[in-house]
Amino acid sequence: MAKIGIIGLGMMGTTHLDAYQKTAGAEVVAIADKSPALLSGEATASGNIEGQAAAGVASLGEGVARYSEASELINDPNVEVVDICLPTPLHTEYALAALAAGKHVLLEKPMARTAADCQTILDAANAKPELITMPAMCMRFWPGWDWLKTAVDEGRYGKVISATFRRIASLPPGGFYANAEASGGAILDLHIHDTDFVQYCFGMPSEVTSFGSSSVTNGIDHVVTRYTCDNGALIVAEGSWAMADGFGFQMQYQVNFENATAVFDLAAEKVLTLIEKGKDPVGIELDSAMGYDLEIEYFVKCLEAGTQPTQVTMEDAANTVRIVEAEVKSIETGQPVKL
Ligand SMILES: NC(=O)c1ccc[n+]([C@@H]2O[C@H](COP(=O)([O-])OP(=O)(O)OC[C@H]3O[C@@H](n4cnc5c(N)ncnc54)[C@H](O)[C@@H]3O)[C@@H](O)[C@H]2O)c1
Repeated sequence: MAKIGIIGLGMMGTTHLDAYQKTAGAEVVAIADKSPALLSGEATASGNIEGQAAAGVASLGEGVARYSEASELINDPNVEVVDICLPTPLHTEYALAALAAGKHVLLEKPMARTAADCQTILDAANAKPELITMPAMCMRFWPGWDWLKTAVDEGRYGKVISATFRRIASLPPGGFYANAEASGGAILDLHIHDTDFVQYCFGMPSEVTSFGSSSVTNGIDHVVTRYTCDNGALIVAEGSWAMADGFGFQMQYQVNFENATAVFDLAAEKVLTLIEKGKDPVGIELDSAMGYDLEIEYFVKCLEAGTQPTQVTMEDAANTVRIVEAEVKSIETGQPVKL
């Protein structure tokens, strides 16, 4: 049984907590947060996807250790695995502390605030190959997105001609998001999911061309990027948290293959629709689990097997932040940026 400690009990820490409770082979033995109300379960963070962060701290038993400072949890000898769900600027400090303390690590996205910090974490993780380390790039586990990855890899519907990814929301509530120095803006915090998925499906882009605007924070709140990849397809992603309050959250893709079009829309009745040439559109049956649950299940399997993850690696996550930094540079310079 993997003994898990979760640091940060905001939306993501609570989401992970719920996921571990559903996963055989994992036991949450400690939690940490600076907020006494979150630590006691009196207050609960809420998610932006239905069913997310539903059970929370209130569902934990008496025997779970509770700390008001993340480093105390890291130094608890009963904790074998540290799950880091702290605000992004704290990822580097606590990932390095957890690795130094000999703990396995699951690290929320973005891996770190800068690509240079990602490299520092990567070097520390590589120096301790006996510790399992995984970045929480959840879209790689998301039902309907895993389907797309397999369809692309198999060439099931021919070559990809074009792919459009879209992730649009209003600014998340809570302390650190509105401060773009801390969060990196929507381009790093939100749009990163699509940047990572582009890399996952189509490899490291050779060039990015991005356009952006700033309206609700002091960072890039809305971005549109064209990725140049080896397959020559037209690949575009749009990300924003500049929508009016109450807009909610939209997550979509449209991928046009030689012989079919696939459309994912989180808000649609048929979330994933496939239209093969000459056939009627069909809804594809998806796993009812959330990507977060499948991500945690995979991580726990890696812990049990004692093998490093392959579905997503720390190196992938560091490369994703590198691509996002190239997108920022493209917006700042008004020029395409090579990688
Ligand atoms: N994978 C996803 O889809 C997804 C979605 C949302 C957020 N995230 C990422 O997850 C991370 C956390 O996001 P969030 O929305 O949960 O943030 P949040 O601000 O709601 O929660 C972070 C918590 O950490 C606590 N904290 C801060 N410093 C601490 C310390 N030293 N010791 C103990 N507790 C401390 C805060 O009190 C807070 O409750 C961010 O990096 C964010 O980008 C990922």
